[in-house]
Amino acid sequence: MIKVLAINGSPRKNWNTATMLDSALEGAMSAGAEGRRIDLYGLTYTGCVSCFECKRLEGRNFGKCAVKDELQPILEEASHADVLLLGSPIYFNDVTGMMRSFLERLYFPVLTYTKAHTLIREKIRQVGWVFTTNAPGDFYKDFYSQLCAGSERLLGPSMYVDASETLQFTDYSLYAADMFDVPARRDRRENVFPQDRKKAEDMGRKLAEAVKRI
Ligand SMILES: Cc1cc2nc3c(=O)[nH]c(=O)nc-3n(C[C@H](O)[C@H](O)[C@H](O)COP(=O)(O)O)c2cc1C
Repeated sequence: MIKVLAINGSPRKNWNTATMLDSALEGAMSAGAEGRRIDLYGLTYTGCVSCFECKRLEGRNFGKCAVKDELQPILEEASHADVLLLGSPIYFNDVTGMMRSFLERLYFPVLTYTKAHTLIREKIRQVGWVFTTNAPGDFYKDFYSQLCAGSERLLGPSMYVDASETLQFTDYSLYAADMFDVPARRDRRENVFPQDRKKAEDMGRKLAEAVKRI
């Protein structure tokens, strides 16, 4: 059975990023994968604490994160996944802090400081990123490519989909937020966001199909 794990790096459990991730998850499941979504903001954990146990020669945590907190079982589950879906809104031109801390813990055990730069990859995982932003579509293209290049090197083949100019609140009149064209945002939510979800679903399906071909 193909295993898929979706990691939600948004604090909101049912809004733009989570919804896109669910579509990607559904796509993977429609191709025969089984799995679930995990919301990082429900967990108590830190980023990498620089203990280097993952690189200690002959150590019992070699190639694994040794930090024991609520992220540890998730990292373990991620290590068995065939398809890893990673979703984050863009916060200050980056992924969210919780996603960043998750990535530190996921990535660092894969790396060695050897001359050959040997990677400790237990398995090659297909990676699908989901990003959502206030900014227009092309604004973060280079950043997305950079993130994909990183996950491609450390985890496996990576691709992304995004939803831009998202609807951030249901009632904009309640907030100091008059810079937005609210009718245009609502229109995008109704007419463009479903297409973005479809792209996410197609990506999930494609990634699960790719596992079958390996
Ligand atoms: C703290 C914070 C920082 C943000 N920074 C950015 C940013 O730098 N660029 C951007 O395009 N959108 C930014 N946004 C907007 C969110 O990325 C966007 O609304 C996203 O779709 C929210 O995802 P969600 O619905 O899953 O919470 C920010 C939102 C918050 C709350």
